[in-house]
Amino acid sequence: YTIGVDIGTSGTKSLLIDSDGNILAESSATYDVLTPKPRWTEQDPEDWWNATVKTIRAVVKKSKVKAGDVKAIGLSGQMHGSVFLDKRGKVLRPALLWNDQRTVAECEEITELAGGRDELIRMVANPAMTGFTAPKILWLRNKEPKKFDRLAHVLLPKDEIRRRLTGELATEVSDASGMLLLDVRNRKWSSELLGKLQIDPELLATVYESEDVTGNLRPEIAEKLGLTTDCVVVGGAGDCAAGAVGNGIVRSGILTASLGTSGVMFIHSDEPQYDKMGRLHTFCHAVRGKWHMMGVTLSAAGSMQWFVDNVCPELAKRRGADPLLTLNAEALEVAAGAGGLLFTPYLSGERSPHVDPNARASFVGLTANHGRGHMARAVMEGVAMSLRESLEIFKSLDVPVREMRVSGGGAKSPLWRQIFADVMNQAACTINAEQGAAYGVALLAAVGAGQFKDIEEACKATIEVVQKTAPKKPHVRTYDKLFPIYQSLYG
Ligand code: XUL
Repeated sequence: YTIGVDIGTSGTKSLLIDSDGNILAESSATYDVLTPKPRWTEQDPEDWWNATVKTIRAVVKKSKVKAGDVKAIGLSGQMHGSVFLDKRGKVLRPALLWNDQRTVAECEEITELAGGRDELIRMVANPAMTGFTAPKILWLRNKEPKKFDRLAHVLLPKDEIRRRLTGELATEVSDASGMLLLDVRNRKWSSELLGKLQIDPELLATVYESEDVTGNLRPEIAEKLGLTTDCVVVGGAGDCAAGAVGNGIVRSGILTASLGTSGVMFIHSDEPQYDKMGRLHTFCHAVRGKWHMMGVTLSAAGSMQWFVDNVCPELAKRRGADPLLTLNAEALEVAAGAGGLLFTPYLSGERSPHVDPNARASFVGLTANHGRGHMARAVMEGVAMSLRESLEIFKSLDVPVREMRVSGGGAKSPLWRQIFADVMNQAACTINAEQGAAYGVALLAAVGAGQFKDIEEACKATIEVVQKTAPKKPHVRTYDKLFPIYQSLYG
């Protein structure tokens, strides 16, 4: 048996699986995001720790497996967050999260110290973005110098949990890629950039591959969790790579479009390809010696939720009727292309392909003939077009695309799946049991425990495509005509 833990932004989820990949028990616990100032987001690592202990104990108890039979734990979590520790391992201040926007000035500072954006992309494969970890380290140095003087270690959220579980200061390639300090091509810290930024390499943890064993549970922790010290903790992965593993995206040519609050186009790549314009992220994958690229649309299913909450709140008040189902039915009555109405989903700014926190959303082309169904359909189409922009960049870099899997809450809508297939001109596939990041790292733990040869074998044994929505040719033609118009709207 192995356990996967995903330390998310709204809560932590743990699950326990057997060696065939069947889930025997699941447990979640929630916590809050602190927003001490507008555009600041923080969390106390103690909340993650309490949720981790609670949910691991719960899955061990519920599944009734013997303590010694749980062989390994895999950790996943929200990426980019900064846990600042002093030399005794005391947390110096609440962690800054992935969606914190306070570091605009530090991003400029990094780009300048690196010798420009192109140089930065050459060293770490990505441009500076407010969410990433390196700008957070510079922010501490600039804004809280007394705390910076006491700084001995910087860890990512899941790696702080690893330290508490095992006592080890370790990370792995996929999450480390999002710190903006990793030489992504060579899968090791970039001593070149660290030198330019004057960041002491001693602050950083040892980097492993995702399936590698990073340590054993400490005795007092094993007892607390109902496990033994023979249980190892493997590297695991950042939540994007872990979620992709949970969807079986571990081979060349497979891409996943995930429609959560934010939308992510994630593709496996055998080579460390990167976009010279920095419009996509290039990170190490949780597959040994492989990479992935990803484009992020910040408001995906979040755009539909905004539409329900603000444009038709009356739907949410109707008892027993899901507002999203009502809107889906209305949007289905409208032809592909929403009668010429277009929507750009930049409700919270954008990341891909426009790295622009100040981008703003729009409906364009409204006429008196358009109704709510048109608007709902335009929102769904606009999100799909935004993600198609990432797909077009993958293709322009010659990253092969053979299969598209759709996942996340939005992919439960048959209409949205059809729109995806039509906008991308690619069948939209769904898999047997979509379990996300916690499942992905439970599989990585199974590899680390020797139950599978590698993660490709583990995914092959447990994950299969069960449904395919094929593109409809006339719709593909309509969207091909609308796409360049959509693209011109940002300008
Ligand atoms: C990835 C990213 C988010 C976080 C939060 O780049 O910022 O997916 O990992 O879950």
